[in-house]
Amino acid sequence: MTDRILIIDFGSQVTQLIARRVRETGVYCEIHPFNKVTVESIREFDPRGVILSGGPASVTLDVSPRAPQGLFEMGLPVLGICYGQQTMVAQLGGKVETSDMKEFGRAFLDVKKDCSLFEGVWQPGAREQVWMSHGDRVASLPEGFEVYATSDNAPFAFIADEARRFYGVQFHPEVVHTPHGHQLIQAFTHQVCGCSGDWTMAAFRDQAIEAIRKQVGSGRVICGLSGGVDSSVAAALIHEAIGDQLVCVFVDHGLLRAGEADQVVKVFRDRFNINLVHSDASDLFLGKLAGKTDPEEKRKIIGATFIDVFEAEAKKVGGADFLAQGTLYPDVIESVSFAGGPSVTIKSHHNVGGLPERMNMKLVEPLRELFKDEVRALGRELGLPDEMVGRHPFPGPGLAIRIPGQEITREKLDILRKADTIYLEEIRNAGLYDAIWQAFAVLLPVKTVGVMGDDRTYDYALALRAVTSTDGMTADYYPFDHGFLGRTANRIINEVRGVNRVVYDVTSKPPGTIEWE
Ligand code: XMP
Repeated sequence: MTDRILIIDFGSQVTQLIARRVRETGVYCEIHPFNKVTVESIREFDPRGVILSGGPASVTLDVSPRAPQGLFEMGLPVLGICYGQQTMVAQLGGKVETSDMKEFGRAFLDVKKDCSLFEGVWQPGAREQVWMSHGDRVASLPEGFEVYATSDNAPFAFIADEARRFYGVQFHPEVVHTPHGHQLIQAFTHQVCGCSGDWTMAAFRDQAIEAIRKQVGSGRVICGLSGGVDSSVAAALIHEAIGDQLVCVFVDHGLLRAGEADQVVKVFRDRFNINLVHSDASDLFLGKLAGKTDPEEKRKIIGATFIDVFEAEAKKVGGADFLAQGTLYPDVIESVSFAGGPSVTIKSHHNVGGLPERMNMKLVEPLRELFKDEVRALGRELGLPDEMVGRHPFPGPGLAIRIPGQEITREKLDILRKADTIYLEEIRNAGLYDAIWQAFAVLLPVKTVGVMGDDRTYDYALALRAVTSTDGMTADYYPFDHGFLGRTANRIINEVRGVNRVVYDVTSKPPGTIEWE
């Protein structure tokens, strides 16, 4: 079995980053919520080491989250980060206090002595930058622990009991603002835990193919292709495992960007030789959307019509036993909730979530263990074209939610497609595509007066949006320079008939959302 690390989650905002950093060292890991972890579950998972994440609670309160006490008797290496350090200290007999000297953001550590985690990274006497975010701090150490580095406000910034292989850090090695953080994590997974670093996408591909064959046997699998990264990689992987037992259905709702439908057909049918049904349902979708302007109504119509078309196509090809989905690890991680309570629906996302029950199919989800960047690496490993695996996310309802507050017509879709193509072309030419999470144009429900040549124009205003993000949950607008914006606006107004004004959206999320509807 591949070496694995267990991450016990205490609800930090950045727990997923710990997992990303561990995987980058070539080691498989999983995040389990603290309230589901027991000594037995750890034994069953059989990790080579355990990382305790940070979290918003305070161990100084009467009731606070804990690691299973038996963890510290299992002989496993443990790395406690921030709250993880504090609970380890408290559970092993040390003391934690609420400090007046809170530290948030950049801080500096004075390295006091050599430690196995510092090998080749930090030397005694060095002053090293780290990133802190804490109110509580360790006040006295449990037996066996020593201090290896201090910061101005955290005298126990780095502690360890090398004999038991327990390490505690007050700072966050998982964030990029701790420049050597990834090396410290690598020292933990490799030197201390003895992991070999054999988790690669090439290895994963072989294991996943075996697992798919075992799960599916001689059954048939149907996969909804959208042209997006996740479903494309899932389809290519499943096809490699079971060949013609896979049928892909591409429901073309007529709301895709320029050239997208052609690319899906070209790559999957022509290059990969995958059994692909291309269902051009644009008339049906546009018919149902006629006269509709409310965002939720549009979303619901598209979601329901998609399921109808998919189901009809599946029947035509004789049905299937399994439905393939491109579910990723972040969708699967159980979150630690302190607040509880149901959250409000901001947007009803269009996906095929209701299909498996309705069609009575089992699920094949070969990407359930992967993060997005790993899915992209796997896609390259499988030979998918770069522009497909590196593509920005694109919403299920497509361009319909980028023509906000107004009726969707072919004419408007056409204008939007042309403008969007120019915008993305300029972004690629400027070498900015990969620095941006998502970029797109929005056709506004407002016409404005302009002057072109000697003529008056009365045409659409168009908004450009580009954001940075790591998961789509929060986002900031991308700070293009004015030269770029001016050039792009100029091209759009000159080349796209129907647009005479371009504006740039500088709203972050929250309070805005990434899409306009
Ligand atoms: P918002 O607009 O909610 O979007 O900030 C967050 C991310 O989700 C994408 N998005 C969707 N994806 N079906 C999808 O598959 C949907 O209905 C949908 N709505 C928004 C959006 O593009 C962004 O990446």
